[in-house]
Amino acid sequence: MPACPLNAFFSTAQRARYLGAIPHRYSCRSFAEPLDISHISALSYAAQRVCLPGVRIVIAECRDDLFFGLPIVGRIKGMTRCAYIIANMEEKHAALHAGISGEAFILEAAAMNVGTCWVSGSYRRSAADVELHENEKILAVTPLGLPREDALPPQRSRKQLKQICLEDPTAWPLWAYHAAESVRAAPSAVNMQPWRLHYAGHALQLLTNGKTNTLDLGIAMLHMEAAMEGRKHLWEWGEGKTVAHLIVEENE
Ligand SMILES: Cc1cc2nc3c(=O)[nH]c(=O)nc-3n(C[C@H](O)[C@H](O)[C@H](O)COP(=O)(O)O)c2cc1C
Repeated sequence: MPACPLNAFFSTAQRARYLGAIPHRYSCRSFAEPLDISHISALSYAAQRVCLPGVRIVIAECRDDLFFGLPIVGRIKGMTRCAYIIANMEEKHAALHAGISGEAFILEAAAMNVGTCWVSGSYRRSAADVELHENEKILAVTPLGLPREDALPPQRSRKQLKQICLEDPTAWPLWAYHAAESVRAAPSAVNMQPWRLHYAGHALQLLTNGKTNTLDLGIAMLHMEAAMEGRKHLWEWGEGKTVAHLIVEENE
Protein backbone atom coordinates (compact mmCIF):
# COMPACT_ATOMS: atom_id res chain seq x y z
CA MET A 1 0.00 0.00 0.00
CA PRO A 2 1.63 3.33 -1.01
CA ALA A 3 2.08 5.84 1.82
CA CYS A 4 -0.57 8.55 2.03
CA PRO A 5 1.07 11.87 1.06
CA LEU A 6 -1.29 13.72 3.40
CA ASN A 7 0.94 12.60 6.31
CA ALA A 8 2.93 15.58 7.63
CA PHE A 9 1.89 17.63 4.57
CA PHE A 10 -0.06 20.41 6.30
CA SER A 11 1.30 22.31 9.30
CA THR A 12 -0.55 22.70 12.59
CA ALA A 13 -1.09 26.39 11.69
CA GLN A 14 -2.67 25.45 8.34
CA ARG A 15 -4.95 22.88 10.01
CA ALA A 16 -6.03 25.46 12.61
CA ARG A 17 -6.68 28.04 9.86
CA TYR A 18 -8.80 25.56 7.88
CA LEU A 19 -10.78 24.53 10.95
CA GLY A 20 -11.44 28.20 11.74
CA ALA A 21 -12.58 28.89 8.16
CA ILE A 22 -14.98 25.92 7.87
CA PRO A 23 -17.97 27.68 9.52
CA HIS A 24 -17.55 30.74 7.22
CA ARG A 25 -17.19 28.92 3.91
CA TYR A 26 -20.25 28.56 1.72
CA SER A 27 -20.88 28.25 -2.00
CA CYS A 28 -20.79 31.86 -3.20
CA ARG A 29 -22.42 32.40 -6.59
CA SER A 30 -22.64 36.21 -6.73
CA PHE A 31 -19.62 38.51 -6.53
CA ALA A 32 -19.42 42.24 -5.92
CA GLU A 33 -15.85 43.23 -6.72
CA PRO A 34 -12.79 41.83 -8.40
CA LEU A 35 -9.92 40.70 -6.22
CA ASP A 36 -7.11 43.14 -5.58
CA ILE A 37 -3.49 42.29 -6.24
CA SER A 38 -2.75 41.37 -2.61
CA HIS A 39 -5.55 38.78 -2.63
CA ILE A 40 -4.31 37.38 -5.94
CA SER A 41 -0.74 37.00 -4.74
CA ALA A 42 -1.82 35.44 -1.42
CA LEU A 43 -4.08 33.00 -3.31
CA SER A 44 -1.32 32.19 -5.83
CA TYR A 45 1.00 31.38 -2.93
CA ALA A 46 -1.69 29.18 -1.33
CA ALA A 47 -2.30 27.43 -4.66
CA GLN A 48 1.38 26.43 -4.82
CA ARG A 49 1.49 25.32 -1.22
CA VAL A 50 -1.55 23.04 -0.94
CA CYS A 51 -1.01 20.79 -3.96
CA LEU A 52 -0.46 17.08 -3.30
CA PRO A 53 1.34 15.00 -5.96
CA GLY A 54 -0.35 15.18 -9.37
CA VAL A 55 -2.46 18.26 -8.57
CA ARG A 56 -2.15 21.81 -9.96
CA ILE A 57 -4.32 24.78 -9.04
CA VAL A 58 -4.18 27.52 -11.67
CA ILE A 59 -5.64 30.97 -11.09
CA ALA A 60 -6.84 32.59 -14.32
CA GLU A 61 -9.01 35.40 -15.60
CA CYS A 62 -12.55 34.47 -16.52
CA ARG A 63 -15.95 35.85 -17.50
CA ASP A 64 -19.48 35.04 -16.41
CA ASP A 65 -19.99 32.82 -19.47
CA LEU A 66 -17.59 30.24 -17.99
CA PHE A 67 -20.53 29.09 -15.87
CA PHE A 68 -24.08 28.26 -16.77
CA GLY A 69 -27.13 28.52 -14.56
CA LEU A 70 -28.73 25.70 -12.59
CA PRO A 71 -32.32 25.54 -11.32
CA ILE A 72 -32.64 26.88 -7.73
CA VAL A 73 -29.05 28.15 -7.34
CA GLY A 74 -28.94 30.14 -10.60
CA ARG A 75 -25.86 31.28 -12.47
CA ILE A 76 -22.51 32.17 -10.94
CA LYS A 77 -21.78 35.79 -11.80
CA GLY A 78 -19.73 38.90 -11.10
CA MET A 79 -16.24 37.38 -10.73
CA THR A 80 -13.25 38.14 -12.96
CA ARG A 81 -11.00 35.32 -11.72
CA CYS A 82 -11.32 31.63 -11.12
CA ALA A 83 -9.08 28.75 -10.08
CA TYR A 84 -8.91 25.49 -12.03
CA ILE A 85 -8.30 22.35 -9.99
CA ILE A 86 -6.36 20.06 -12.29
CA ALA A 87 -5.16 16.49 -11.76
CA ASN A 88 -2.75 14.24 -13.60
CA MET A 89 -4.92 11.17 -13.99
CA GLU A 90 -1.86 8.89 -14.16
CA GLU A 91 -1.16 9.67 -10.50
CA LYS A 92 -2.62 7.11 -8.09
CA HIS A 93 -5.46 8.64 -6.04
CA ALA A 94 -5.45 11.70 -8.36
CA ALA A 95 -9.06 12.70 -7.69
CA LEU A 96 -8.72 12.21 -3.93
CA HIS A 97 -5.58 14.38 -3.96
CA ALA A 98 -7.50 17.01 -5.96
CA GLY A 99 -10.35 17.00 -3.42
CA ILE A 100 -7.93 17.41 -0.52
CA SER A 101 -5.85 20.15 -2.18
CA GLY A 102 -8.85 21.91 -3.70
CA GLU A 103 -10.63 22.13 -0.34
CA ALA A 104 -7.45 23.36 1.38
CA PHE A 105 -7.26 26.10 -1.27
CA ILE A 106 -10.95 26.95 -0.83
CA LEU A 107 -10.52 27.22 2.95
CA GLU A 108 -7.40 29.38 2.47
CA ALA A 109 -9.64 31.67 0.38
CA ALA A 110 -12.41 31.60 3.02
CA ALA A 111 -9.84 32.61 5.67
CA MET A 112 -9.17 35.73 3.51
CA ASN A 113 -12.93 36.40 3.07
CA VAL A 114 -12.65 35.50 -0.60
CA GLY A 115 -15.78 33.79 -1.96
CA THR A 116 -15.56 30.44 -3.78
CA CYS A 117 -17.78 27.64 -5.07
CA TRP A 118 -16.68 24.15 -6.07
CA VAL A 119 -17.99 23.60 -9.60
CA SER A 120 -17.49 20.26 -11.32
CA GLY A 121 -20.64 20.26 -13.44
CA SER A 122 -22.07 23.67 -14.35
CA TYR A 123 -19.23 25.17 -16.36
CA ARG A 124 -18.45 25.28 -20.08
CA ARG A 125 -15.40 23.13 -20.79
CA SER A 126 -14.93 25.05 -24.05
CA ALA A 127 -14.60 28.37 -22.16
CA ALA A 128 -11.90 27.06 -19.79
CA ASP A 129 -8.81 29.06 -20.68
CA VAL A 130 -6.03 26.94 -19.22
CA GLU A 131 -3.29 24.86 -20.76
CA LEU A 132 -3.23 21.21 -19.76
CA HIS A 133 -0.19 18.94 -19.73
CA GLU A 134 -0.26 15.32 -20.85
CA ASN A 135 -2.72 13.16 -18.85
CA GLU A 136 -4.12 16.19 -17.03
CA LYS A 137 -7.83 16.87 -16.60
CA ILE A 138 -9.73 19.77 -15.10
CA LEU A 139 -11.69 18.18 -12.23
CA ALA A 140 -13.31 21.38 -10.97
CA VAL A 141 -13.20 25.13 -11.13
CA THR A 142 -14.07 27.73 -8.52
CA PRO A 143 -14.94 31.38 -9.08
CA LEU A 144 -12.88 33.77 -6.94
CA GLY A 145 -14.05 37.19 -5.80
CA LEU A 146 -15.44 39.30 -3.00
CA PRO A 147 -18.96 38.07 -2.22
CA ARG A 148 -21.97 40.29 -2.75
CA GLU A 149 -23.66 40.93 0.56
CA ASP A 150 -26.81 39.17 -0.59
CA ALA A 151 -24.81 36.11 -1.74
CA LEU A 152 -25.10 34.40 1.66
CA PRO A 153 -27.26 31.27 1.59
CA PRO A 154 -30.07 31.29 4.16
CA GLN A 155 -28.98 28.12 5.97
CA ARG A 156 -26.51 25.28 5.67
CA SER A 157 -28.47 22.12 5.09
CA ARG A 158 -26.68 19.02 6.35
CA LYS A 159 -27.44 15.45 7.38
CA GLN A 160 -27.46 14.72 11.09
CA LEU A 161 -24.30 13.17 12.55
CA LYS A 162 -26.11 9.88 13.20
CA GLN A 163 -26.85 9.63 9.46
CA ILE A 164 -23.17 9.78 8.52
CA CYS A 165 -21.71 7.75 11.42
CA LEU A 166 -22.14 3.97 11.55
CA GLU A 167 -22.05 4.01 15.37
CA ASP A 168 -23.16 6.56 17.96
CA PRO A 169 -20.37 9.17 17.64
CA THR A 170 -20.93 10.37 21.22
CA ALA A 171 -19.39 7.04 22.32
CA TRP A 172 -16.25 7.71 20.24
CA PRO A 173 -13.11 9.45 21.52
CA LEU A 174 -13.54 13.23 21.37
CA TRP A 175 -11.06 13.66 18.49
CA ALA A 176 -13.10 11.27 16.33
CA TYR A 177 -16.34 13.06 17.23
CA HIS A 178 -14.79 16.42 16.25
CA ALA A 179 -13.54 14.92 12.98
CA ALA A 180 -17.09 13.70 12.22
CA GLU A 181 -18.50 17.17 12.93
CA SER A 182 -15.91 18.66 10.62
CA VAL A 183 -16.87 16.24 7.82
CA ARG A 184 -20.54 17.04 8.38
CA ALA A 185 -19.87 20.70 7.50
CA ALA A 186 -18.04 19.86 4.27
CA PRO A 187 -19.36 20.80 0.82
CA SER A 188 -20.25 18.03 -1.64
CA ALA A 189 -21.54 17.79 -5.20
CA VAL A 190 -25.33 18.34 -5.22
CA ASN A 191 -25.02 18.43 -1.42
CA MET A 192 -25.17 14.62 -1.43
CA GLN A 193 -22.89 14.27 1.64
CA PRO A 194 -21.96 10.79 0.46
CA TRP A 195 -19.53 10.00 3.25
CA ARG A 196 -19.87 7.48 6.08
CA LEU A 197 -17.60 7.19 9.10
CA HIS A 198 -16.79 4.13 11.17
CA TYR A 199 -14.63 4.07 14.31
CA ALA A 200 -12.67 0.93 15.23
CA GLY A 201 -9.40 0.30 17.07
CA HIS A 202 -7.88 3.81 17.27
CA ALA A 203 -8.91 4.58 13.68
CA LEU A 204 -11.66 6.61 12.10
CA GLN A 205 -12.46 5.14 8.69
CA LEU A 206 -13.88 7.14 5.82
CA LEU A 207 -16.19 4.94 3.76
CA THR A 208 -17.75 5.31 0.33
CA ASN A 209 -20.72 3.63 -1.28
CA GLY A 210 -18.69 3.45 -4.49
CA LYS A 211 -21.04 5.73 -6.45
CA THR A 212 -19.84 9.07 -5.16
CA ASN A 213 -17.88 11.92 -6.70
CA THR A 214 -14.32 11.11 -5.58
CA LEU A 215 -13.63 14.83 -5.06
CA ASP A 216 -16.18 14.73 -2.23
CA LEU A 217 -14.17 12.03 -0.45
CA GLY A 218 -10.96 14.06 -0.72
CA ILE A 219 -12.84 17.06 0.68
CA ALA A 220 -13.98 14.92 3.63
CA MET A 221 -10.36 13.83 4.24
CA LEU A 222 -9.24 17.46 4.36
CA HIS A 223 -11.98 18.25 6.91
CA MET A 224 -10.85 15.28 9.06
CA GLU A 225 -7.25 16.51 8.74
CA ALA A 226 -8.27 20.05 9.81
CA ALA A 227 -9.99 18.67 12.90
CA MET A 228 -6.67 17.10 14.02
CA GLU A 229 -5.13 20.60 14.55
CA GLY A 230 -2.01 19.88 16.69
CA ARG A 231 -2.85 16.24 17.47
CA LYS A 232 -0.42 13.51 16.38
CA HIS A 233 -2.11 11.37 13.75
CA LEU A 234 -1.43 9.08 10.81
CA TRP A 235 -3.24 8.42 7.53
CA GLU A 236 -3.34 5.11 5.72
CA TRP A 237 -5.15 4.39 2.47
CA GLY A 238 -7.95 1.86 2.74
CA GLU A 239 -9.16 -0.86 0.41
CA GLY A 240 -12.54 -1.52 -1.21
CA LYS A 241 -15.19 0.70 0.34
CA THR A 242 -12.78 2.06 2.94
CA VAL A 243 -11.17 5.13 1.43
CA ALA A 244 -8.74 5.88 4.25
CA HIS A 245 -8.01 5.33 7.94
CA LEU A 246 -7.19 8.23 10.25
CA ILE A 247 -5.28 6.76 13.20
CA VAL A 248 -4.74 8.41 16.58
CA GLU A 249 -2.87 6.19 19.03
CA GLU A 250 -3.38 8.28 22.19
CA ASN A 251 -6.16 7.20 24.54
CA GLU A 252 -8.23 10.38 24.62
C1 LIG B 1 -17.18 18.38 -5.91
C2 LIG B 1 -18.26 19.43 -5.93
C3 LIG B 1 -18.84 19.79 -7.14
C4 LIG B 1 -19.81 20.80 -7.18
N1 LIG B 1 -20.34 21.18 -8.39
C5 LIG B 1 -21.19 22.23 -8.45
C6 LIG B 1 -21.65 22.69 -9.72
O1 LIG B 1 -21.35 22.15 -10.77
N2 LIG B 1 -22.45 23.81 -9.75
C7 LIG B 1 -22.83 24.47 -8.58
O2 LIG B 1 -23.54 25.48 -8.67
N3 LIG B 1 -22.41 24.01 -7.35
C8 LIG B 1 -21.60 22.93 -7.27
N4 LIG B 1 -21.15 22.49 -6.04
C9 LIG B 1 -21.56 23.17 -4.80
C10 LIG B 1 -22.53 22.32 -3.96
O3 LIG B 1 -23.82 22.38 -4.52
C11 LIG B 1 -22.52 22.85 -2.51
O4 LIG B 1 -21.24 22.65 -1.98
C12 LIG B 1 -23.52 22.13 -1.61
O5 LIG B 1 -24.84 22.38 -2.03
C13 LIG B 1 -23.39 22.57 -0.14
O6 LIG B 1 -23.57 23.95 0.00
P1 LIG B 1 -22.44 24.87 0.64
O7 LIG B 1 -21.20 24.71 -0.22
O8 LIG B 1 -23.00 26.29 0.57
O9 LIG B 1 -22.18 24.42 2.05
C14 LIG B 1 -20.22 21.46 -5.97
C15 LIG B 1 -19.62 21.06 -4.76
C16 LIG B 1 -18.66 20.08 -4.74
C17 LIG B 1 -18.01 19.72 -3.44
